[in-house]
Amino acid sequence: MNADLSVRIGKLRLKNPVILASGTVGYGNEISEFTDLSKIGAIITKSVSLNPRKGNPPQRIVETPSGMLNAIGLANVGVEEFIKSKIPFLTNLKSTIICNIAASTVEEYEECVKILDEQEAIKGFEINVSCPNVKEGGLIFGNDITAVAKITERVRAVTDKTIIIKLSPNVSSIYKFASAAKDGGADAVSAINTLVGTSFDIYSRRPKLSNITGGLSGPAIKPIALAKVLEISRNVDIPIIGIGGIMNWKDAVEFIICGASAIQIGTVNFINPNAGIEIIEGLVSYCAKMNILGIAELIASYQISK
Ligand SMILES: Cc1cc2nc3c(=O)[nH]c(=O)nc-3n(C[C@H](O)[C@H](O)[C@H](O)COP(=O)(O)O)c2cc1C
Repeated sequence: MNADLSVRIGKLRLKNPVILASGTVGYGNEISEFTDLSKIGAIITKSVSLNPRKGNPPQRIVETPSGMLNAIGLANVGVEEFIKSKIPFLTNLKSTIICNIAASTVEEYEECVKILDEQEAIKGFEINVSCPNVKEGGLIFGNDITAVAKITERVRAVTDKTIIIKLSPNVSSIYKFASAAKDGGADAVSAINTLVGTSFDIYSRRPKLSNITGGLSGPAIKPIALAKVLEISRNVDIPIIGIGGIMNWKDAVEFIICGASAIQIGTVNFINPNAGIEIIEGLVSYCAKMNILGIAELIASYQISK
């Protein structure tokens, strides 16, 4: 018999711990023809903001050794159009849908969640307080513990659905932010968003990205992400969703052992859109080989056996 891969994140029970990360699969539609989304634990939408955003001008993506830099700038259709044209597609998917929210003010986060709370298809919210590629909001919030606590409290007040706060790695003590999110009423945190980086063209002597800096993702950031997950797990009692450079099931297992209750995959979706399914299959085989009956046994097992 296959191991029970189901995990609990707040009020949500996911059939497995594999989640598609925000911004890397659009609204699910951009990947649906290449993989079977009904098998994926959960799908997190591209960040949605109250009003549509054009994002930054090109160049917005640059490949780097073992990763990529992106400075999309939260381009998205806005809440109204999201409800009109994206929710119908999401409603038909047999996966759990979590809506990622971005905003430039505390009020805007609250308003977005309030509007989307009425949508049956949306089962939870991931609050992006950590985008490095926008001038307002983004890292200004992500670096400010009081702001993270306040945003969490304000969105908590307008929804009973699961709230996940997506933390920035661009801080010195990430666990303090996880603690503020917990105190504000969050059900879980996700760690990590991208790290600030840049890349220059040596002939033009100009930055490759129009925004000059971007967010670094992919295998290059995995050891950092893993250390951040471990730091939170050791200091704060809150479910953690691990993200950062996960390319295969072995990476996923590492994150789970270090304290992640679930994992997200981002950059790998651009290389192998079926990676999510392959990770689920790998987890099943690993559990069978290790005589693990349920993935819950594995979560934070490093700390338990210490
Ligand atoms: C092209 C691109 C767009 C992204 N857009 C968003 C976004 O809109 N909102 C968000 O919270 N994170 C966004 N992210 C961050 C990812 O969700 C994830 O946290 C990060 O890429 C690290 O995971 P990875 O190394 O598996 O890609 C984006 C990442 C990439 C590569």
